[in-house]
Formats: sequence, structure tokens, C-alpha cells
Amino acid sequence: MEIQNQGFDSSIAQAKWRGDVIFYQFHGFWFTPLFLQGTQELLNQFKPLSGDVILASFPKTGTTWLKSLLYSIINRSSIDQLARNHPHQLVPQLELQVYGPQWSFAPPNFPSPCTSPSNRIFGTHLPYQIFGKIANSSDCRVVYVARNPKDTLVSFWHMVNTTEMAKRAPWPLEDAVDKFCDGFLPFGPYYEHVLGYQKESIERPKKFFFITYEELQSDTKTHVKKLAEFLGCPFDNEEQVEEVVRSCSIETLRNHEVNKSSDVSKFFPLPLNSFFRKGHVGDHKNYLTKDMIERIDGITSEKFRGLIFKH
Ligand code: A3P
Repeated sequence: MEIQNQGFDSSIAQAKWRGDVIFYQFHGFWFTPLFLQGTQELLNQFKPLSGDVILASFPKTGTTWLKSLLYSIINRSSIDQLARNHPHQLVPQLELQVYGPQWSFAPPNFPSPCTSPSNRIFGTHLPYQIFGKIANSSDCRVVYVARNPKDTLVSFWHMVNTTEMAKRAPWPLEDAVDKFCDGFLPFGPYYEHVLGYQKESIERPKKFFFITYEELQSDTKTHVKKLAEFLGCPFDNEEQVEEVVRSCSIETLRNHEVNKSSDVSKFFPLPLNSFFRKGHVGDHKNYLTKDMIERIDGITSEKFRGLIFKH
């Protein structure tokens, strides 16, 4: 697929990321050309409805899990759709699947912002600093999932190494750590991304729900119940909660045929099975050296001041 690198405002800074890939800096955050195209369309066109639910996240922080959970909580009677559709089909990513270059990824019947006015759920990787104005333009609700920086980085590094480009030239972990610490990765810097939504969730908890991947892992049922209450559709009984948790577990999801394919799909530019890797907390310990951990922990304590992730 040919990506149009040209045509962005000349005031938008650009820098070489890896190989020939150029990133663009937009309002302080880094974008691939593909994501920037979609983002600019989104900012011009997207008008959230008051009933919309938006899942915001930094890449590799549990987006796919939260998409499954939000879909199941909101559409309890059609939870079986998860067995036939990838979570990214059920909850499209605004800047890629809805406003991105639809000519390349979206199947013909893909939900568009003009259809199904109730129960709309969308995902976005846009930071609050860019998406906030749109989020605040209606009574839509925003759920943000955050994940500890080291697992996020390792998950992202693995993901990049599943791409065709990486098969020719694998991405060294040392470079991934440097780029993460410099904030030079798609939608980075990570820390400002997390802080943007965390601040809003403290000031306006009825509109912004902030949850961490680690909290969800440690007590999924309790947090799924809180999520359902936030969304205004609390559960009637424990069986319902258990069904949602079970249907959205990584073990269940990765066993559905639709999620097993290693092909790049029509609706997402990554292999469908690449979203279900390990799903463990603390996996970074298997990859990062002591020095790498100390370096990232130093930045984490300076940026988060012990408020979100201590290390
Ligand atoms: P790992 O690479 O650490 O295994 P995203 O959806 O934002 O791309 O995040 C992907 C990460 O979430 C991957 O982490 C993936 O394995 C994990 N994940 C995907 N589905 C999950 C689920 N249902 N439960 C827990 N973790 C899940």
C-alpha cells in the first residue's frame, strides 16, 4: 500500500523513525503518515453523540481487551458476536478504520459514524491533548486504559517485530528502549498520553473512567462491574459478570477462528492474531536488562510521581 507522505502542513515537524519510515509531530505527539491522515480527517469531521462510548488508549496497553469488554457490557444480548468478529471489527478505531484511508482497510459494510446512532463504541489512540476538544463537545463517555510503561514497551517491541519490515530488519530492543524513553513512538510520548486522561478522570469522573491493565488483571470481576456502572448499564447478577469476563479472556478470544489468522486483515494493518500474545503482567522482566529497567523506572517516577505506576 502506498502511503501519502506528502501534503501535510509544512509546519508539522518530521523525523526519520526506522528505516525509511517518517514520523510527523502533531501537537507534541508522534504519528505515522497513515495515522496523521486519519487524525486530521477525524478532527475535521467527527461529532460524538451523547450516547457514544470512546475507548482511548496508548498502543499495546490492553485496547483489544477493553474493546471486547465494552462491547460485551453494552451489547450483553449479542455477546456471541465476539466469537465471529475480531474486537477491532466490533469497535473500530476512529483514526484508522473510520476516518483513515477506508479505501484500503474498511470492508464495505463497515460501521460508519453516520449509521447505528445508538450503542456506538469507538476506539482511539489520540491523546487527550488532541482529542479532548472533541470528547468535550458532547456528553459522550470516555474510558481510558493505561498499562505499566515497561510491559507497554515490550509489547510494542514484539508487535513491531511481527511486521514485514521487521522480518527483513528486526528492531533491536536497545533502540526500542531509547525511542520509548524519548517518547518517539506512534502516539508518544507515552507519559504525557497517560497523564492527559488521568487528570481528566480525577476532575470529571462521570465522563472519564481511568483504569489500568494491572487492576483489571488483578480483579477482573470487580473492575468490570465498576465499568458497567460507569457506562450506566450495571449487571443484574453475578452470572452476567462471569459470562462477560469469560468471553473476553485472552484464552477465550485467541481460540476463536476469527482471531487466529496471521494474515493482515482488510480492516486493520496488522495480523489478527498479533493482538493476543501473552497477556501477562510483568513480562518485561523476561526481556529488559537491569540498566534498561532502572532507566525507565527513573523516568516513570519523575513523570508519574508515584501517582499512577510507581515503576
Ligand atoms: P502482551 O504483548 O504483553 O501479551 P493492545 O490491544 O492495546 O494492542 O494491547 C495488546 C496487549 O494486550 C498484548 O499484551 C496482548 O496479549 C494483551 N491482550 C489482548 N487481549 C487480552 C485479553 N483479553 N486479556 C488480557 N490481555 C490481553
